[in-house]
This record gives sequence, structure tokens and C-alpha cells, in this order.
Amino acid sequence: MSRHRPGRRARRASASPLFTPHGADRTARRAARKQLAEARAKAQAAAVETAGATAAEAEMPAPLYAPAGRPGTASARGKRLRLPAHRMTTATASGAYPFLAEGGLGAEGIYIGRDVHAEGSFVFDPFSLYGKVEGFTNPNILLAGVIGQGKSALAKSFALRSVAFGYRVYVPCDPKGEWTPVATALGGTSIALGPGLPGRLNPLDAAPKPPSISDADWAGEVRKRRLLLLGSLARTVLGRDLLPMEHTALDIALDGVVQAATAAGRAPLLGDIAHTLAQPHLLDAAAGTVSGHLGDAARDLSHALRRLVHGDLAGMFDAPSTVAFDPTSPMLSIDLSRLGGSGDDTALVLAMTCASAWMEAALTDPDGGRRWIVYDEAWRLMRHPGLLQRMQAQWKLSRGLGIANLMVIHRLSDLLTAGDAGSQGRALAKGLLADCSTRIIYRQETDQIQAAATLLGLTAVETEAISHLTRGRGLWRVAGRSFVVQHLLHPTEKSLFDTDARMH
Ligand SMILES: Nc1ncnc2c1ncn2[C@@H]1O[C@H](COP(=O)(O)OP(=O)(O)O)[C@@H](O)[C@H]1O
Ligand SMILES: [Mg+2]
Repeated sequence: MSRHRPGRRARRASASPLFTPHGADRTARRAARKQLAEARAKAQAAAVETAGATAAEAEMPAPLYAPAGRPGTASARGKRLRLPAHRMTTATASGAYPFLAEGGLGAEGIYIGRDVHAEGSFVFDPFSLYGKVEGFTNPNILLAGVIGQGKSALAKSFALRSVAFGYRVYVPCDPKGEWTPVATALGGTSIALGPGLPGRLNPLDAAPKPPSISDADWAGEVRKRRLLLLGSLARTVLGRDLLPMEHTALDIALDGVVQAATAAGRAPLLGDIAHTLAQPHLLDAAAGTVSGHLGDAARDLSHALRRLVHGDLAGMFDAPSTVAFDPTSPMLSIDLSRLGGSGDDTALVLAMTCASAWMEAALTDPDGGRRWIVYDEAWRLMRHPGLLQRMQAQWKLSRGLGIANLMVIHRLSDLLTAGDAGSQGRALAKGLLADCSTRIIYRQETDQIQAAATLLGLTAVETEAISHLTRGRGLWRVAGRSFVVQHLLHPTEKSLFDTDARMH
């Protein structure tokens, strides 16, 4: 009895000053303790009440272990375990203790959720990891997984949470229209394009020249982007590579159209290019000393571009833009959901490319701050080497501009369908993969797992891990390190991001 008393008294004596003012007498201290106990009981009762009230909160996965750690004999917290001291280097130790969990990427960044192995919070910010982690050579992210696993939800969380860091978010093509509520919630804008809608984007728009770049450099830059876009569009419609004379024709047509448009004080349009290409004598005259009949060689090209001007996309990308780009807006998305119905994927893919080109041109300001470009449903573009090439060129440029790209695809083999083995398309797709230092793998179809493992160089343990992933849980490969992360959604996010709503 008397052995316990001093302990209790000591504990009380050391804790009481933390709660009661110095010099308070015994009655005052007792009253303060009572007050504290009452407040605590009240808070606990309130917590129980709210936990019962919101179903979404109740869905949050409970921690695996109590705060005190793993219970039972396996807890390794018993007092009887005595090991002899042993000294070794950390290099040896990491081999000797293979069951230790990853240490994590530090505390700096955007909260994503729970690191399933380390049982800690997982935060991630490609901008802050850049240059700090070995092998982290670019801020781009590849996100792959089957439908309904929460890829878009993760991308939207990235967008929503990174706004707090002052990053801006751009979604150049949103084929399902699911980003509009997110943009609205963040105080950004969404531009809807489609038949009968007033929105128009001119993908040949030249962005305002950033002050740090010289006039001549900027003119070259704008020309390069326009040519790349026209070439990719033509290649995609034709379904083949362009011939050398077709390249020349495109070059010359673009220069002629830009000259005429500048003289008239307006922006060049896709329709102008198609019109010039359709008139052999105009081209031949403009080509001057170039040998051969350029006009005849450009016949296929002119039909290909006609598709954008007179086909199912008529008007949308062949008129002066009706919206101005606002660099101060926290978020901008382009909603292409009204285009989908026709069953022909090519129109949607061309529209995605035109919309991306317009937005990317607007983002060329190197002083524009840190920005995200999210290519949701990018697997659609993968089947067209022309579009892939344009995307890769854009990614190369984006590195110097403070832009991180996030590409969402279904399967890793989407990357390989871009062309036959050894083809240019496949090389491009692999290049794009190499351009993503961060790869997030959500659940894959069983027959895809082996291909994914080979393509990403996964270990047997990692391969095993991706076959057991559930919704919102993914294998994160960050510059050669790997984590299994459960993405946690706030109830507000959950209702904002819900794409199952139409299914309920
Ligand atoms: N981490 C998560 N926790 C709970 N629900 C989620 C999570 N991620 C996604 N969901 C829900 O799953 C549904 C499908 O997600 P979505 O992001 O549209 O999938 P995907 O883009 O992979 O097809 C959405 O309604 C979303 O609210
Ligand atoms: Mg999605």
C-alpha cells in the first residue's frame, strides 16, 4: 500500500501544474481537474454521436492496430526480450532486416492517404521531391488501373489539395465531363465544347509572349507548336506517317496563312490551312523554287484537315476562340462530354488534341508558377502515334515551365498498342513512360499483371501486391522506391468526385 502511494502522488504532483495555474490552492486544483474531466467526457460523447451520423466517415478504414501498437505476444514490447548488442553498418543492417517498411518520402507535400505497410500518412509533392530524391528526374506521373478503381478520384484529390499549395490545375480534355464540379468548387472555370454549344477554341492561337523570351525565339516556338499540331492531326486522320512532300506542303501552307492572317490582324485558323492545301496553284506559287508539284502531293492532306473543318467537329476548332485564357484562375477544364455520342472515337481524339494544344500554348509562361496538367482518359490518345509524339514533345517543353503532367490510362499495355514491336509508336510510348518518374499502378486485369511487371521492372513482391489491390489502393513507384498507399477521401471530396452517382 505504502509502496503505491508515492508513485500516485508523484504523478499527480507532476501533472497538475500543467492544468492548473501555479500557486493555486488544493480546492482550485480539484475544481479544475473536475472541469477537465467533464469537458473530456463531453467531447467523447460528441465524437461518438458524429461517428454514428455520417456514413461516409464510418467508411473510413479503421487503423489496423491500437495506438499502443500491435497487441499480444507478437508486439515485441514485452520486457523479456533481451538481445545481445550487435554492431553493423546500415548497408548490412538493411539486408539483415528485410522486413522493415519504407521510411516514406518525408513530411513535405500533399496528403494522399495511408501508407499501408508503414502505417503512416503518405504525402507526395513532385515539385518538392524534384532534385531531392535520387533518380527523380521529372515531376510527371503515370496512373494506370482498370475502370472504377478511383484513378480519377485520386487525380481530383491531387488537384483539390494542391490548390492549397498555390498550384494551378489544368484539365485540357475531359471526355466524361466529370471535372466540371471540381473546377466550379475551386472557383475555376470549365469550357464546354460540342455541337450546338457556343464555345470555340482555336488551337492555332499564339499565347502572349512571355517577357523573358526574345521576339525571334518566340516566333520560332509558336511556329514549331503549330506545325507539330497540324502534323499530328493529319497523321491521325490519314492513319499513316506523312510523306516528305506533305511535310513541305504543310510548312508552306502554314507560313502563307500566318502571313495573310497577320496582315489582316487576326489569328490563323485551321480552315485557312485546309483551304490553302486544297488549292494546288496557291501552294505551287508559294513553294517557288521547291521542285515537284506540291499541290498534287497535298491532296490527301487537304482531305484530312477538311475533317476538322466540315466534319463532326465543324466550327468547334475552326473559329476565333470565344474564351480568353485566364492565368489567375485556380483551375480550368475543357469539357468534351457532349462530343462522345457519335461512336466514332477519332472525332473525340482529335478534339482532345486540339483542346490540349490550345491549353498548352496558353501555359508557356515560364513565370506562371507551378502547374498541373491532368490528362484524364489519356489511353484514348495512345492508339495514335501522331498524338503521342505531340504529347511527348509537349512534356519535354513542360519541364522547364514548372509543369507536372499526370496521365491516366487503363492498362500499361495501352502504351504498347501504340505500335508494333520495334515501331516508332512503341518507342514513343516507352519514352513517355521513362518521362514519368512516378508510376502509380491501380488494380490491373489478371492477364495484364505480367506485362505490367515486365514493363515497369517490378519485383515479385510488388507484382504480388498489385494483384491484391482494392479501390483507392495503389502501388506507387517513386523513382525506384515503392509504397502501397490507400487514398483517403474526405466526405466532401467523396460527394464531389462521385462518378457512380448515375449508377445508384
Ligand atoms: N479512395 C477512395 N475511397 C472511397 N471511394 C472511392 C475512392 N476512390 C474512388 N472512389 C469512388 O469510386 C468511384 C469510381 O472512381 P473513379 O475515380 O471515377 O474511377 P476511375 O477513374 O478509376 O474509373 C467514384 O464514385 C469514387 O467516389
Ligand atoms: Mg476515370
